[in-house]
Amino acid sequence: MPTANLNGFSMNYLEQGQGRSIVLLHGFPLDAGVFDDQVQALSDRFRVIAPDLRGFGGSTSDAPFTIESLADDLHQLLSRIGALPCVLGGLSMGGYVALAFAEKYPRDVAGLVLIDTRSEADSSEGKQKRNAMVELVRERGARAIADQMLPNLLAAPVAPDRLLRMMSAVPAATIQNALRAMRDRKDYTSLLSSLKLPTLIVVGEKDAITPPALARAMHQAIAGSRLLIIQGAGHLTPMESPEDLSNAIREFVSGIPTRSAL
Ligand code: MLT
Repeated sequence: MPTANLNGFSMNYLEQGQGRSIVLLHGFPLDAGVFDDQVQALSDRFRVIAPDLRGFGGSTSDAPFTIESLADDLHQLLSRIGALPCVLGGLSMGGYVALAFAEKYPRDVAGLVLIDTRSEADSSEGKQKRNAMVELVRERGARAIADQMLPNLLAAPVAPDRLLRMMSAVPAATIQNALRAMRDRKDYTSLLSSLKLPTLIVVGEKDAITPPALARAMHQAIAGSRLLIIQGAGHLTPMESPEDLSNAIREFVSGIPTRSAL
C-alpha cells in the first residue's frame, strides 16, 4: 500500500487503475479494506483511491482530530498525488468527512457519493452514547466496541469474522478520537441545498444506523441527486452488496460531464 507523509503522520491508501479519480472514505471503526471490492471492480476504468483515515488501518497516529481536519488530511493527500478534482464517496463517518470536504473544497469535487450516511449532527442522546463508548473502549478495548456495533452493521452475516478483525485492530486511541470527532461534528444539513454537485445517495434497505428515511431526506434536499436503496442490505453496503454499489458508482461517474481537469 502506498503512503504519503502529511501533517505529522504517514497516510496509507489503496490506489488502483487510471482515469478519473474516485476516492472512497471508510466508516467507523473500519479501514480502506471495506472498499476492496469497489477498488477492484472500478479500477478497470477509473483511478480508485481508498485511504486509511488518520489513526485507522496503516495510517498510524494518536493525534486527536475533527471531521474537518480529516477532510484537510485528505485534501493534502489528494493534492500531493495529483488526484483532484475527484468524485468523492464516503461511507457513514466517511460521508461526514466527504460533506466537510465538499463544503471546504467545492472546486475539487466533481461528484459526491453518500453511502449509508447522514447530514445531521449527533442529538444530545447520541452524544451521550458516544461518551459511553469512549468509556467502554478505555476500559475494555476495541474488541468491546466491535462486539457492540456488529449486530447493527450487517443485515445478514456477511464476512462477520473479517469485519470483527478489522474493527478490533483499530487502536483504542483512534476509536476515542473518532468518537469525539463524530460527537462534536457540525450539522451539514444546511449545506445540502447549496450543493451544486452531481450526487448519488446509496443506502441499504435495512440500514439500522443511518436508515433510508435519512437518505430520502438528503435526496430531497440535494437538487438533482439520485437515490439508490439497496434491497436486503444493512449499513455496510460496500461489503454486503458489493456489485450493486460498484455498478451504481460506475454508472454515476460515467454520467458526470468531463471537466478539462478531470
Ligand atoms: C460509521 O459506520 O461510520 C458509524 O457508525 C457512524 C456513526 O457512528 O455515526
